[in-house]
Amino acid sequence: MALSTTDIAETSPEPQGEGRAPLHVAIIMDGNGRWATQRGWPRLAGHRKGAEQIKKIVQAAPGLGIRYMTIYAFSTENWKRSTQEVLGLMKMFRLMIKREAAELSRQGVELRFIGDRTRLDPLLRETMDSIEARTRGNTKLTLAVAINYGGRDELRRAALELARDLAEGRITEDEVDEAAISARLDTRCMPDPDLVIRSSGETRTSNFLPWQAAYSEYEFTPTLWPDFTPGELAEILARFKGRERRFGGVAS
Ligand code: IPE
Ligand code: IPE
Ligand code: MG
Repeated sequence: MALSTTDIAETSPEPQGEGRAPLHVAIIMDGNGRWATQRGWPRLAGHRKGAEQIKKIVQAAPGLGIRYMTIYAFSTENWKRSTQEVLGLMKMFRLMIKREAAELSRQGVELRFIGDRTRLDPLLRETMDSIEARTRGNTKLTLAVAINYGGRDELRRAALELARDLAEGRITEDEVDEAAISARLDTRCMPDPDLVIRSSGETRTSNFLPWQAAYSEYEFTPTLWPDFTPGELAEILARFKGRERRFGGVAS
């Protein structure tokens, strides 16, 4: 099949020179458990401190030029952890969302959740639905929280939806392009992340946004998430601005 120049423009962004702030930053918040263990504390104490850090980062983000932020809170693989840790995390998510709803609204944050909700506790799902409704349309920052999120699971769900749409005639084979897949992902209302940050020194992506981050820049920091500050985020963004993104093109 011949590819027209419009197809090419749709699928690959133009090369970008230096100096741009990232519009969308995605963060793999790792290292809570080690932070707590180093202090002889239970792992949940690390998760609580990590949650406090999120508030500071979210508050600082718009001032640093960030419009979209996605944070990895719980993966589809994290169910392998002890029941105590999993239940503790789920309870913490619910309490934190409830407690922070008013303040997030005041700050102009639109909160969204990505991941498969069907496996989550109905009370937690209710809380998630209600804060999404309450903050919908806020424009200072869109904050997507990934809970029971796995990139492969997200693609599986998108494939299923696409197969149904094809079978039921809502879409034709010719219309199955990259945009048709992006439109069926949990992140459909956000641009792809420009920058992915992972804390705690691990240099893997652990099933986080495999489709969306195909051309993202990556930063890995040894800092454990509970020690990650807005100051370090600002340093990372300054480095990002010095990078040249070519998207397969040629240096400008
Ligand atoms: C990240 O911290 C938070 C979640 C995965 C819920 P970890 O709990 O993975 O912390 P480490 O990697 O064990 O230190
Ligand atoms: C990734 O961290 C998931 C979250 C931060 C929520 P993990 O700690 O689960 O990743 P692995 O197991 O080290 O790859
Ligand atoms: Mg970890």
